[in-house]
Amino acid sequence: MSESRASVDHLLVGVSGSIAILNLPTYLAALRATFAREVRVIMTASAARLLSPSTVALLCEEVLLDEEPTPQRKPGHVELANWAGMFLILPASANILGQVANGLAQNLLTTTIMASPIPVIFCPNLNRTMWSKRAVQRNLRTLAEDGHLMVDPEYAPAYEVGTGEMADTLILPDPEALIRHLESMLPQIEAATEGRQRGTL
Ligand SMILES: Cc1cc2nc3c(=O)[nH]c(=O)nc-3n(C[C@H](O)[C@H](O)[C@H](O)COP(=O)(O)O)c2cc1C
Repeated sequence: MSESRASVDHLLVGVSGSIAILNLPTYLAALRATFAREVRVIMTASAARLLSPSTVALLCEEVLLDEEPTPQRKPGHVELANWAGMFLILPASANILGQVANGLAQNLLTTTIMASPIPVIFCPNLNRTMWSKRAVQRNLRTLAEDGHLMVDPEYAPAYEVGTGEMADTLILPDPEALIRHLESMLPQIEAATEGRQRGTL
């Protein structure tokens, strides 16, 4: 880990079913190598259909999925939420934005977001038409009003699965730029964590 770089001990990454999941291994490798000492990942069922959890497990300490109860003890939503020094949703689908903005908690990821004592950082990835919808923009405003943080997508030429062509579309900032965003958000997260310890949140 680089000496000069700000970092976190415990990074919790929530992964939802957006196409940007195809690049998730690159992001996890960069985050684990340069920004976070330990990384745990929660995948929604849609995410786990798009990218194998076994692949994700190569790049983090633990992958958690929605599962039936098993004889093995698994950390639950409250334990995961309290473990996180930073909680990042990467990528965030339109569905996750809408669920959280409306206080819904139907699966392990949304329940853990609901249990989070610190602001959650969303990295939305939707196509341009979805992004422009009033419902999506309303949900983004609600999340900000509720104290959550946002890493906005950027316009750039990229491969579109729907058309099979390169097109100007919305993409996540590249891993280096994302980590710079996260570094700049650390003071806000740390202030929220200290507030939690003092019992003022
Ligand atoms: C191949 C594929 C790509 C998708 N890409 C996106 C996307 O980029 N953004 C998005 O919001 N939804 C996308 N979806 C739709 C979501 O997967 C769908 O809304 C799902 O219910 C999200 O569930 P989750 O939020 O629990 O992960 C995609 C679906 C498929 C099958």
